[in-house]
Amino acid sequence: MIFASSNQNKMIERAGHAIKQGELVIFPTETVYGIGVAAHNPAAVAKLYAAKNRPQFNPLIVHCASKDAAFSLVKTTKLAHQLADAFWPGPMSIVLTSIKNSPICSLARAGLDSVALRVPANIICQELLQCAGIPVVAPSANPSGRLSPTDVAHLDSALMAKCAEIIDAGKCEAGIESTIIDARKKVPVILRPGPITHSQIEDYLGTKCVHASPVSSSTSPTSIAPMAPIAPGQLASHYAPIAPLRMNATRKQEGEIFIGFNTPHADFNLTKTGNLEEAAAHLFDMLHLADKQNPLAIAVAPIPKIGVGEAINERLERAAAPKN
Ligand code: TXA
Ligand code: MG
Repeated sequence: MIFASSNQNKMIERAGHAIKQGELVIFPTETVYGIGVAAHNPAAVAKLYAAKNRPQFNPLIVHCASKDAAFSLVKTTKLAHQLADAFWPGPMSIVLTSIKNSPICSLARAGLDSVALRVPANIICQELLQCAGIPVVAPSANPSGRLSPTDVAHLDSALMAKCAEIIDAGKCEAGIESTIIDARKKVPVILRPGPITHSQIEDYLGTKCVHASPVSSSTSPTSIAPMAPIAPGQLASHYAPIAPLRMNATRKQEGEIFIGFNTPHADFNLTKTGNLEEAAAHLFDMLHLADKQNPLAIAVAPIPKIGVGEAINERLERAAAPKN
């Protein structure tokens, strides 16, 4: 666990103040770096969408310091309480129906009557949320559609220039974005796979999850075809490097950078032991590193579709999807 130094404490205080003033701040979470603004302030939220070049139909996740603060914003369900008690603080976001007259501005929710909530575990993020004292909406701190940053070295300089503070706390532990679960009904629906896996959720709840994500896997849980884009941000092309990406590669082709999974002779290895958590933590870092070398393409070895491997494959499928 990373503790804040006294310099960091001052920076966290300044950052909390900046958020209250409607400014943008980049901060660490245990998943990826986020870029946050005050959730109640439509002008600040509009600035955030513009800075990321993010379509305004893609709603933001509301970050709160505690379960009580988060649940004061929504109509809760038994399932939501069970999930929050098991996995918060931590890398999970819960979608629930918003209360009427919510302090979260409509733009942050992209006009939906639902809202995604997250109580992060990262200590610096926790301190920041407590300093700010208000809900903070925070997407990943990358230009829309590009790779998420798991280290300040990955940050886009134009985006950094638009922020009042940038809090550097080294590499993010989990390395991929939170698991998003729709908990409005009795059955948990996984809208985005992430560090908390469907089997962890099923083991804890003793019930099956439904998967709204297009991951194709023989081991994936029951699939449903979403009637409408339930998570509007789940566009086919996302998390994309500049170079084209080739999945399930068994060998390197001319001009490619090869990212392996415990693969001899790979340019980079997500893991040298086959550990999926380690692979997830390294995923965006290695894609950033590979992309920086301007290869003709980035080839990635097959990743087992079990545990957090499902989330890794989902991110890779989106990164490999044709860009529009
Ligand atoms: O780990 C994370 O979740 C990171 C860190 C910074 O907390 N944040 C993050 O935010 O990944 P972003 O904006 O990159 O992804 C948010 C996702 C989008 O796919 C969006 O569509 C979905 O959450 N989302 C937000 N509100 C929603 C809602 N009401 N219903 C369904 N999906 C929602
Ligand atoms: Mg993102």
